[in-house]
Amino acid sequence: MAPLVRLSFAPGRASYNRDMLLGREQELRELAAALSGARENRSGVLVLTGEPGIGKTALVDHVAALAGDAGMRILRARGIESEARVPFAGLLDLLRPALGSLDRIPGPQAAALEGALALRPASAQDRFAVGAATLSLLAAYAEQGPVAVLLDDVHWLDQSSSQALLFAFRRLVADPIAAAEFYEQVLGFGVSDWVLVPGMGRLGAFMHCNTRHHSFAFFANPEPRKKIHHIMMEYTSIDDVGTAYDLCLERDLVTATLGRHLNDHMFSFYFKNPGDWHFELGWGAREIDPATWQVEHYNGLQPGGGEWGHKGLFDVM
Ligand SMILES: Nc1ncnc2c1ncn2[C@@H]1O[C@H](COP(=O)(O)OP(=O)(O)OP(=O)(O)O)[C@@H](O)[C@H]1O
Ligand SMILES: [Mg+2]
Repeated sequence: MAPLVRLSFAPGRASYNRDMLLGREQELRELAAALSGARENRSGVLVLTGEPGIGKTALVDHVAALAGDAGMRILRARGIESEARVPFAGLLDLLRPALGSLDRIPGPQAAALEGALALRPASAQDRFAVGAATLSLLAAYAEQGPVAVLLDDVHWLDQSSSQALLFAFRRLVADPIAAAEFYEQVLGFGVSDWVLVPGMGRLGAFMHCNTRHHSFAFFANPEPRKKIHHIMMEYTSIDDVGTAYDLCLERDLVTATLGRHLNDHMFSFYFKNPGDWHFELGWGAREIDPATWQVEHYNGLQPGGGEWGHKGLFDVM
């Protein structure tokens, strides 16, 4: 979870002045470090907690001023007691300045978010889609320059907004780069490609240990439905994939349709197993030469992560 800055305050001798926060040197150092990290494309989350009246809002105001001086764009909202039961009230306040970037996120996510924010008639509401859309929209907005997201009185934020924001923030703080280093240094894997979210950096890695494009991949997903998403098996014949696909369709097991992945070029589909995670069955992946391989990058918010097909894959992440 996010680092916590716990506020306490011994009443000082001097009186408070708008431009000067008394006794907040340590907190301001941590907040300034988070802001300068953001300007270097490192996302981070800080949580301020403290007694009523201890000076949380004053610090948030101060951070807003610092961020503004540094040329960052600011998204800011606060929980309001009378709106605590209005779904997505806080999220709408927060994201309003970023809504111009809605056309740069995947269509189904944009539709889910617009429905949730009552900007268009709502369809069946999918909690995951609104969280993913919040993450995508923050990423799209941050593509134009660093962004500070400031939330005050979070305890009054409506629950729907809290869930969507928690979904997005948790994905901002996992550290896939450190995880990849571990597999490189300890087990001798190499990175085949990084999964990027524009404006947000690396959210996952595909790794190889031989001529297969990847034998292992992981994503920053702090709230996974399962710790293992899928295991893949490769056939030597495309017809075996087709036959297995028919069988899985008959049994209503398919979780992602036939498609071809962008990175390993695998022609495959996914089906669920009794443990409710997935198998991928495929054919025709490319091979790589680990000695000369150039690390690639691709956009992780592309639905299905594929060249074509794999409809449904994004929903079962
Ligand atoms: N570091 C500080 N030095 C001196 N005065 C301060 C400091 N921080 C806040 N104050 C003053 O203390 C009062 C309460 O501060 P503030 O509203 O920021 O607290 P809060 O924690 O947000 O309160 P609440 O829990 O009610 O939201 C304000 O008048 C503010 O100007
Ligand atoms: Mg306050």
